[in-house]
This record gives sequence, structure tokens and C-alpha cells, in this order.
Amino acid sequence: MTKPNKGINTRLAHCGNNPHDFFGFVSPPVVHASTVLFPDAQTMRARKQKYVYGTHGTPTTDALTSAIDELEGSHGTILVPSGLAAVTVPLLAFLSSGDHVLIVDSVYHPTRRFADTMLKRLGIELTYYDPTIGGAITELLQPNTKVVFTESPGSNTFEVQDIPAITKAAKAAGAVVMMDNTWATALYFRPMDHGVDIVIHAATKYPSGHSDVLLGSVSASQSAWPKLLDAYTALGVCAAPDDVYQVLRGLRTMGVRLEHHRKSTLEIARWLETQPGVAQVLHPALESHPTHGLWKRDFGGSSGIFSMVLDGSGEAQADAFLNALEIFGLGYSWGGYESLAVPVFLGDRTVSKRDYGGVVIRLQIGLEDVEDLKADLSAGLAAAKNA
Ligand SMILES: Cc1ncc(COP(=O)(O)O)c(C=O)c1O
Repeated sequence: MTKPNKGINTRLAHCGNNPHDFFGFVSPPVVHASTVLFPDAQTMRARKQKYVYGTHGTPTTDALTSAIDELEGSHGTILVPSGLAAVTVPLLAFLSSGDHVLIVDSVYHPTRRFADTMLKRLGIELTYYDPTIGGAITELLQPNTKVVFTESPGSNTFEVQDIPAITKAAKAAGAVVMMDNTWATALYFRPMDHGVDIVIHAATKYPSGHSDVLLGSVSASQSAWPKLLDAYTALGVCAAPDDVYQVLRGLRTMGVRLEHHRKSTLEIARWLETQPGVAQVLHPALESHPTHGLWKRDFGGSSGIFSMVLDGSGEAQADAFLNALEIFGLGYSWGGYESLAVPVFLGDRTVSKRDYGGVVIRLQIGLEDVEDLKADLSAGLAAAKNA
């Protein structure tokens, strides 16, 4: 374990595996495994050795889980095949028929789909709450509320939640708090320092960083760990070794990449605020964002996605904007080295509906040069104006 007083890039470079555990090679071996052999019948019966079967962990998965534990301050971490699985597995672990769950209304849409379909089918009651609810969440907590699900900032509109107030209220009611922390990563927000029990990451995004891997991680506090591990073992949704290795590889450079994303994104977001044709920019690190105060209080930085509203636009203007882009690709996901744009769907919101004054477009700012990206966006804005 790297000493906690070291700088974040030092820790990212050295966390996880100890090179001297494997002949001094700086990276861990990529172990492809189902079977693990036992030396004799007694050891096999007692399962008394570090590794027993591929689904339960290997030196490769251990390298990444211990790196994540070190960064998050968590007791244990599981790795699953996608960020979406990192959402669904802990919800299945902590909810049973007859329980109630509170889910933030600005949640990643597939999380909502899972809740509205599978959780409902399993007899779990659910309530969506406004992302700005803060401590008033107390009023929505029921005797059977077992989980409060948070995502901060929220998808597409980037509302920062008052996590300390929410964890305080949830703890008083005996509910577990889960947080999808993909946007900030452990570098810019450490949920467990604010009382969160379960931290979720789509490692597909910044940890991987290259738009070529799908992976999820779920980290638990000491008290939440046994339940999470039980469900993980029961479900068998383990991650593939090559993907795990790629994410550990990505983690080494995540600090440097994120700093570049942070700077370029802020510069572009601020510039967009001054551009005709842009009604508003939704980025929590901008003073104009309604939850900027919470971001400033709790977060150590900002990452590379935010949204902009094309003033008074409809589908024709949005299409013209998107079709005029040459560097920004039209595609889902984020956290990779390349810039992306996507029109946002907000029709699923139930308690935080708002008219944003035009089509909301989400931008992921990659590692390209800022001036090139601005020129691309200018061309898009000109096309939208003429549509
Ligand atoms: C906030 C958030 N959580 C989870 C996910 C799911 O990650 P994955 O694409 O790896 O399933 C995404 C994907 O876009 C996301 O934006």
C-alpha cells in the first residue's frame, strides 16, 4: 500500500500490486483462470488457500481491487463486467421483496430502467426524489427503506447532491447509501469520507480512459462488505482478466488525463457561456450552475462531461449542430481520450422536470487541443443558427 501522505499521481503509479510478489515485474500477471489446483485433499476440503476458483478472484483482480480500495478508502471491492452491472449487483444485494428504495431522479437512465422493471418485478417499492432534496430526504424515508441510491452529479443535468446530509438522514433511519461516483472518480470526491456505504464506478470511463473496455467496480465499507460479497459470489458476475488488466493500466495515468480533461472542459464550458445560440451551460464547477455551492464545498475537482442548451432549439437545430461536428463523435459513453456529443433525453424524469429552453446536448471533452474543439463547436453553432 502506498503511504496516504503521498501525492495522488504517486499513489496511482504504485497502488495495487507489489512488483516483488511477481519477480519484480512492475505489472501483475494477467491470470486466465477457472481451475485452481489444491495440493491435497485436506486443503481442498477446507478450501484453505488464497485462491480457490477463477470467479472468486485472481492475482490480477486483486491488484485492481486493492488499488481501488486504497483510492476509495473502502474495505473491499468487487469487479463486474460493466458499469451498469456495478449498479445492479449492489441493488440486488441489499434489496428484498417488500423493501423500499429511494432513487435520485437525475439517475443514469439504465439504472432507472433496471429499477422500473426488475426491482418492481421483485416486489420492491421505489420512490424517485429530487436531486436537490438534501436533508429533507428524511420525509421520504419509510420504515422499510433499505437503500438510498445517489448519483452526484446527476446524469446529463449535473446536479450535485448534498451527500453528507443524505447519509446522515439515511443512517438515522437504518438505510444503506449507495453512490454512483463515476463522474468525479475517487480523485475528486471520496464518498466514504462523507458516510456513503457503497461506491459504484463505471470503470469503463476514466479508469479505462480509452473507450475500448467495459468494467464496473463496487466498493463497500466494512459493515456493508459481507452482504455485497455474498451477492457477488451467488451471482457469478465476475470480470474478465484482460479487461481488469486494462483498467489497472489505465489507472496509472488517470490523474494526468483527468487534469487535462478538467482544464480543457472548464475552458470550453466557460467559453460556451459567452457564445450566441447557447442558452445555458450545465456544469457544476461553473458559478451559474444551481448546485455550484455544494460542488465547491465537497469536490476537489471536475471532470470532462457537461451539457449545453441550444437556445430555443428543436430537433432540426440539434441535428444541424451535431451533423456539423467533425472532431466530436456522435456516440455514447465518456471518459475516453476523444470528444463526443450526444442529445440528451430527459423525458424519463418524474419529480425534477424542467424546461431548459431548448435541446440539451451533452459534451464529453477529450484530450484533443482546446482551440480545435472550440472551432468544431463554433461550426456546430453556426449550422444550428442556419437550420
Ligand atoms: C453515471 C454512469 N453510471 C454507470 C454507467 C454505466 O457504465 P457502462 O457503460 O460501463 O455500463 C454510465 C455509462 O454511461 C454512466 O454514465
